[in-house]
Amino acid sequence: MSNDAEACRVSGEAETRRMNVEQARAILLANDRGGYCVPTARLYPFQWNWDSAFVAMGWGTFDEARAWQEITSLLKGQWEDGLIPQIVFHAPSDDYFPGPDVWGVRRTPATSGITQPPVLATAVRHLWDTGRDRALAEANAASIYPALVRNHRWWQAARDPERRGLVATLHPWETGMDNSPAWDAALARVPMDTVTPIRRRDTAHVDAAMRPRGEEYQRFIHLVDVYRDAGWDPARMLAASPFRVADVATNAILLRAEQDLLAMAGRFGTDTERAEIEERVARLHTALERLWHDGLGLYASMDLMTHEIISVGTSGGFLPLFAGHARDRAATLAATLARWAARVSRVVPSTDPGFTGFEPKRYWRGPIWAVVNWMIADGFRATGDAATADRIRGDTVALIEAAGPSEYFDPVTGEGIGGADFSWTASIFLLWVR
Ligand code: DGY
Repeated sequence: MSNDAEACRVSGEAETRRMNVEQARAILLANDRGGYCVPTARLYPFQWNWDSAFVAMGWGTFDEARAWQEITSLLKGQWEDGLIPQIVFHAPSDDYFPGPDVWGVRRTPATSGITQPPVLATAVRHLWDTGRDRALAEANAASIYPALVRNHRWWQAARDPERRGLVATLHPWETGMDNSPAWDAALARVPMDTVTPIRRRDTAHVDAAMRPRGEEYQRFIHLVDVYRDAGWDPARMLAASPFRVADVATNAILLRAEQDLLAMAGRFGTDTERAEIEERVARLHTALERLWHDGLGLYASMDLMTHEIISVGTSGGFLPLFAGHARDRAATLAATLARWAARVSRVVPSTDPGFTGFEPKRYWRGPIWAVVNWMIADGFRATGDAATADRIRGDTVALIEAAGPSEYFDPVTGEGIGGADFSWTASIFLLWVR
């Protein structure tokens, strides 16, 4: 290729990248409902907890004030006991089931009664570290820090009251990985009868073949009925829970979040708070190691009803690296990822593609999720494995550039599936390419 042709190709690529960045920003602007983003129009018409943590970091690449606002909007839903709910229903919508009436949580704004993976402290630390407007970053991190302290105390008090080290999740929706095959056996023990009539709206927006099955929804709603009857009281929920798992992803994300909180405590906290966080970090590091699964070459979740490790490989199993855990296992984890990669065209599938329950198009049973990739790549990079981190980043960016910022991607065909114009996928694109 001549020098001129090469220069032309490079400037064409730069122009395409610039347009893609503009498109990603435009998606956040379009999904903004006034201080918070919906994950995508119609399918998810409210504010979701872990979505907003990633979305805040996305905003942080071009509008720092709006990034902080994403977080303060989410915290409007925080409960007095420290829970940060999975959903904050800031404004009514008929597009989603189950809405506030089903949850029966009497608060303003209305919220659901369960939580989601605690990425928030990591997002706040990221915005605090990278904020170009230092005064804004300092003021917001200082004012948000106490809410994070209360939230991490909630995780321990509500979900690990005996201080064994691993926190419990009581609903597949709390893991964010709703229909992962990792939950199949535990969810099969949950009855299918419901008091609440099921009126699914998701399949009116997205092909049913890309969503959880009807049977799973019946069990999801049965769980909501059980916890609503328990008055959303943490101890009563724990005692009544027919589904209880130590999700490897939630625990790894929490361990990372605790360390990010500790960094902020160094600036905004007290000695007592620092000691308390350090103690939880040490306990969680020890406990997380109990989730190593030699046969899978990966970490895995534990069924807390049977105390057995769930023998299903999921992308969550790489996340202990995101928590700075298991650096000595990084080569084994990279080899596992390479084995998975040989069966698909892009990484990281949410379920081991060699597993019988792998379904490349069905939500968390196979598709690639950009936010999980961002965390896994961060983990590999921190171990010094730049090649694996670059492969994950490169695949994610290529998928988004080819198919747009979809909710998730088929790891075999690269097709963008689920909801379109998705806030957290656009945010990961912005974080990775600016
Ligand atoms: C849904 O409704 O699909 C969500 O994943 C619940 O958070």
